[in-house]
Amino acid sequence: MRTTIALTRPGTPYLLEQLEQRFDVVRCWQLDADPAALRRACAGVRILVTDGMIGAHASRIDTLPALELIASLGVGYDSIDVAYAASRGVRVTNTPDVLTDDVADLALAFMLALSRRLLPADRYVRAGEWPNGPFALGHRFGSRRIGVLGLGRIGRAIALRVQACGCEVVYHGRHAQADVPWPYYPDLVAMARAVDVLVVAVPGGAATDGLVSRAVLEALGPAGVLVNIARGSIVDERALVESLVSGALGGAGLDVFADEPRVPAALFTLDNVVLQPHQGSATRETRQAMADLVLANIDAYLAGRPLLTPVP
Ligand code: 8YV
Repeated sequence: MRTTIALTRPGTPYLLEQLEQRFDVVRCWQLDADPAALRRACAGVRILVTDGMIGAHASRIDTLPALELIASLGVGYDSIDVAYAASRGVRVTNTPDVLTDDVADLALAFMLALSRRLLPADRYVRAGEWPNGPFALGHRFGSRRIGVLGLGRIGRAIALRVQACGCEVVYHGRHAQADVPWPYYPDLVAMARAVDVLVVAVPGGAATDGLVSRAVLEALGPAGVLVNIARGSIVDERALVESLVSGALGGAGLDVFADEPRVPAALFTLDNVVLQPHQGSATRETRQAMADLVLANIDAYLAGRPLLTPVP
């Protein structure tokens, strides 16, 4: 008998296709508007496949009485109620490592784009302004001092990239790490004051909610740049928008927002901001590797083998 799984949203066509080859798939996004039909379809679901953005809140888990495993397409699991899942005896897996390089590349792309004013310069050429005079100067990227907030897998990959570009690297996190050469700042505000660019690479969730506060943004200052490839919840978004509009903060590269996919409209007209629709892991290669890891975790679970990448 085929195992029944539920999928919160289509995700990649590859993942949907692979799941449908192996399992009976309940397409939640087609039933979410009809709770009674959803409950009926989900009665025998043993596995929920979701992603880092949709996650699995307690209300979702409650629609799945036979649930045993949540397999998420994403490294961040702040949107999954892991404690509630555990209380129901439900295991959780995520997709670390396979997306690290892509997310770090996007952080580097933001930093280069902002230092060299790539987007305003592109608009300048397209608007036919070039014959009227040269474009304003940017900053040499290799002369920048970069503060990495969160030296986990992605934070380290970012640090290595900017170091290769000649930048000085410092970092802040809960603890100093013995195996890296970069100076540690125990105080985030002090680090923000000392750097040109602050890159947010800590996980989302209660422990980091609002960590990049108004005080941190003020310390970064009018010449400072914030890059966020982690979660919108980590930054005080209201303070961020106000600081960018007033010029109290120099610029920002933002892949994530507090209320995705809604983005504060005040950002749309700012020249010192680069915006992305949560694209950190969005390459064909990485999304396929993420999907393969989701499938490998499901296979391991169903075969009674240890999960490859369990969430603690
Ligand atoms: C994706 C992410 O948004 O891995 C994460 O935590 O935020 C991203 O890779 C997502 O999970 C894929 O839909």
